Amino acid sequence: MSVNVADIRRSYVKDKLDLDKLNADPFVQFEAWLKDAIAAELPDPTAMCVASVDADGQPSQRLVLLKDVSSNGFVFYTNLGSRKAQELAGNPKVCLHFPWHPLERQVIVYGIAERVPTSQVLHYFTSRPKESQLAAWASEQSRPVSTRLALMQKFAEIKHKFEHGEIPVPSFWGGFLVKPHKIEFWQGGEHRLHDRFMYSKQADGHWSIERLCP
Ligand SMILES: Cc1cc2nc3c(=O)[nH]c(=O)nc-3n(C[C@H](O)[C@H](O)[C@H](O)COP(=O)(O)O)c2cc1C
Repeated sequence: MSVNVADIRRSYVKDKLDLDKLNADPFVQFEAWLKDAIAAELPDPTAMCVASVDADGQPSQRLVLLKDVSSNGFVFYTNLGSRKAQELAGNPKVCLHFPWHPLERQVIVYGIAERVPTSQVLHYFTSRPKESQLAAWASEQSRPVSTRLALMQKFAEIKHKFEHGEIPVPSFWGGFLVKPHKIEFWQGGEHRLHDRFMYSKQADGHWSIERLCP
């Protein structure tokens, strides 16, 4: 390879993380870090990588946008026929990754995905820009399409079909709530001695916190 990737590296020196700096509640901690990512004007601060696994144990991942977070978990929306949705239907174990590396931070969430109730899907879908609603109808997400033109023609047809009135939620579109049982907060450290803290949900509902080796 002409690019010398082996020599590309930098030091992580922006911040330090210690137990006494962490909130006992991982969702409070997450919100604080999310606010930092937004304030730092990171591109797509709410983008998270979703990893799922197919029936053969083959993992796959992609970025989606976080659309809600509460003590119940992390919510995203997608096409229910998509690869990710099909994989989550077969195996709801999921891993989320927030790649906030410009802040020398990562958050990794281990959990179980469940479908968001229809009323909540409707509420979110109707809040989306009209073009996004039409695109949800036009795209058979994850399936082959012959050309970009074919996709644009489908979009034009859908636009014509829903010219008047509200655009209904497609039956093949919905959301997932990821209920976590483990959440890791990672802060880059000097000499690759990063700070890592893993929150683990206990049987009684409280969260334990352990420092992990980098
Ligand atoms: C920043 C960013 C945000 C995205 N947000 C979403 C999203 O919220 N939902 C979604 O279905 N796809 C989203 N996508 C597209 C996905 O990355 C992906 O192409 C699509 O969901 C199909 O994935 P799959 O075939 O693995 O199921 C986003 C892509 C990027 C780069």
